[in-house]
Amino acid sequence: MKPPLTIALYPGDGIGKDVTAAAFEVVQAVETHTEGLAVEGTWLDWGCDYYKSHGRVAPVDFLEQLRPFDAVFLGAVGWPEQLPDHVTLEPLIQMRQSFDLYACVRPARTFPGVPTPLKDDRALDLIVLRENSEGEYVNAGGCFHPGAPEEAALQTALHTRKGVTRILEYGFILAKGRRKKITLITKSNAQRYGYVLWEELFYAMAEEHPEVEVDRIHIDAATLHMVRDPGRFDVIVGSNLFGDILSDLSGAITGSLGLNPSANLNPGASVPSLFEPVHGSAPDIAGKGIANPTGAILSAADMLRFLGYPEPAERVASAVEKAYTDGCRTPDVGGTLSTEAFTLEVVRRLS
Ligand code: NAD
Ligand code: IPM
Ligand code: MN
Repeated sequence: MKPPLTIALYPGDGIGKDVTAAAFEVVQAVETHTEGLAVEGTWLDWGCDYYKSHGRVAPVDFLEQLRPFDAVFLGAVGWPEQLPDHVTLEPLIQMRQSFDLYACVRPARTFPGVPTPLKDDRALDLIVLRENSEGEYVNAGGCFHPGAPEEAALQTALHTRKGVTRILEYGFILAKGRRKKITLITKSNAQRYGYVLWEELFYAMAEEHPEVEVDRIHIDAATLHMVRDPGRFDVIVGSNLFGDILSDLSGAITGSLGLNPSANLNPGASVPSLFEPVHGSAPDIAGKGIANPTGAILSAADMLRFLGYPEPAERVASAVEKAYTDGCRTPDVGGTLSTEAFTLEVVRRLS
């Protein structure tokens, strides 16, 4: 028997707590159906509540505490009314950057019976692949004369040949395993250094993958096409910020942000990978027990697959699919089930 998978469970704030509990309940249930799978979860109480007693949202050595785990599962962090976002979100960004989790994979698809806001309600199935280690998220810049009338803030993005090349490679490989189309999102018409580098590397790589159809769209037009003709997308690859924006939009067009999973990966490296739903802590519905746990549950399935357990991962994904086919839905997608009730419906369909 293989050693148990060690998972750090970091529910965080708001609905992060509900959806992490839901996802881990499903993991524990699928464990009982899978010979050879053992999962050991370690719960972490970091976040806004931790801040009240410790004056910080996570321990100073939180990265070292996380490093030995096979994976980290995060619910969501942030609660702007309690603490400024740049304080609560710091550990999330640090995990991604310090463990060099450069590939952020965010699949978005429609589910049976889930209404979408689009006129054309054909099924959608796309992936937003987001560069996750540099770009607009590097902490490069500064504030001069803070508070003074001449205050100036400088925020610099960093796009490296190595960083862009590896995410594009990941994208072409993903596309090859799917409908063989990749769309690069840029803004090279206005940002002439960083995104021009992206385009040069993209077109050079395209020549090595003639079987993959390539497309390039600026971020502004991309938001339009996502709403007007989302079927044209298979794998969408872009910088950290563009990937962030398009992942929320892909949630909206598939029916709810609560549906979308996310994996933060550094394939082959001996660091824990990070799995989390795309959505945030949703203070507007926190404490009501109505958060949609689908994105979190599917993130847990992706975690099992990435850690070498494709069979239970598939079992979880098909249980979710069956739950939707049978009409089980939380309020965000037009149903009445609570987080717990929906989770139970998924668990029931695992066997
Ligand atoms: P949000 O994603 O929390 O919520 C946006 C909207 O979507 C809200 O109306 C919310 O109710 C709805 N929603 C989100 N997830 C849902 C779910 N599972 N089920 C049903 N409805 C859902 O974004 P926000 O309100 O802009 O941000 C709230 C906080 O979360 C902020 O502090 C923000 O910085 C943080 N945030 C954290 C993460 C993360 O931890 N990965 C991601 C995004 C935002
Ligand atoms: C996400 C979130 C984060 C991001 C925030 C919370 C820093 O929006 O994971 O999509 O921008 O990456
Ligand atoms: Mn986001």
